[in-house]
Amino acid sequence: MNRVRVSLAERSYDVVVGEGARHELAAMVARVGSVRQAIVVTQRALIDAGWLEGLNCGLPHEVLTVPEGEAAKSLATVETLCSGFAQRGLARGDVVVALGGGVVTDVAGFAAASFHRGTAYVNVATTLLAQVDAAVGGKTGVNLPEGKNLLGAFWQPAGVLCDTEMLATLSPREWASGRGEMAKYAFLAPGDPDASLLDLPLDEQVARCVALKAEFVSADEREGDRRMILNYGHTLAHALEAAGFAEGRGDLRHGEAVAIGLVYAALLARRLGRIDDHRVELHRRVVGAFDLPTALPAGVDPERILSFMARDKKAQHDLTFVLDGPGGVEPVRAVGSADVLATLAEMKVDQ
Ligand SMILES: NC(=O)c1ccc[n+]([C@@H]2O[C@H](COP(=O)([O-])OP(=O)(O)OC[C@H]3O[C@@H](n4cnc5c(N)ncnc54)[C@H](O)[C@@H]3O)[C@@H](O)[C@H]2O)c1
Ligand SMILES: [Zn+2]
Repeated sequence: MNRVRVSLAERSYDVVVGEGARHELAAMVARVGSVRQAIVVTQRALIDAGWLEGLNCGLPHEVLTVPEGEAAKSLATVETLCSGFAQRGLARGDVVVALGGGVVTDVAGFAAASFHRGTAYVNVATTLLAQVDAAVGGKTGVNLPEGKNLLGAFWQPAGVLCDTEMLATLSPREWASGRGEMAKYAFLAPGDPDASLLDLPLDEQVARCVALKAEFVSADEREGDRRMILNYGHTLAHALEAAGFAEGRGDLRHGEAVAIGLVYAALLARRLGRIDDHRVELHRRVVGAFDLPTALPAGVDPERILSFMARDKKAQHDLTFVLDGPGGVEPVRAVGSADVLATLAEMKVDQ
């Protein structure tokens, strides 16, 4: 079993990665303190896949389910969950167990952050994306009709379990989505980016990504410049998602949108004179090696994408991108909209 420590003084915790990591749940819950009961928050798909059976919290627990999909990340879900916690008498010293992908860990984490002004929670991450990214780092939250992740809290879990056995029931699209975040880490690790991560056993692939995320989170819990680097590839990705390419036409999963965003970021960095052709090609090659798309979906309207980029909460007051450069990947502020549009026009389009 791999153990990665997220070091945050009194908020430090372990991420346990490996086959069968879920069996450490009771021990992890016990470490929270004098817990009397747990409430497991999960989804129907996880119950149908059999992952709730045999899940041992080590103490009495009840189960609440949330609906599937991004729409479940809403204030309405938080209210329903918190009412459920109250009706079951969950005390401040008890624990919430989030069993699921990023939707479950984000919404259950935010409910835990809010209930009694902060109740402990443990993440049992069941998608590749949640294991390498969403379940670690304490960003919890929900969407508003005005935008994604607009409402939330930094609330660190008491521990995270990444059981790679649980990925056996994941659909191919969800695997691809997780690989998109993995490809992102390839550009954030020291040295030249490559896809050698994929040569490792799965649990080590996950553990490597978690270790990188833990390093950024420990250095900058509340997302100043350092943690912002974890958003590499995300400015275009979020804009594509907001413009509807995650649902209807295009049907991109988050990580696939990130993959396209990584290639876009490379082209933009080249336009700004930060990197050369070779480095752009390296981006295409690495993203391709993770078996991910590198071209824009058909039907992208550049002006519309630009307007969504400008609205992205991470963009602050001007267009901020995370871009590669001579000193590595870093936030770059005040990127001109003409460069953003010209780079969109330069992207290959998926036919
Ligand atoms: N908080 C963060 O730092 C952070 C980082 C990245 C992404 N996110 C968020 O994560 C969310 C996306 O998470 P996701 O990609 O995990 O999607 P998801 O949580 O919607 O899960 C995808 C689908 O897979 C199902 N599923 C989950 N585990 C399964 C398993 N083991 N077997 C079979 N089916 C399973 C789910 O029920 C769901 O239908 C987004 O809302 C995004 O904003 C948060
Ligand atoms: Zn992401």
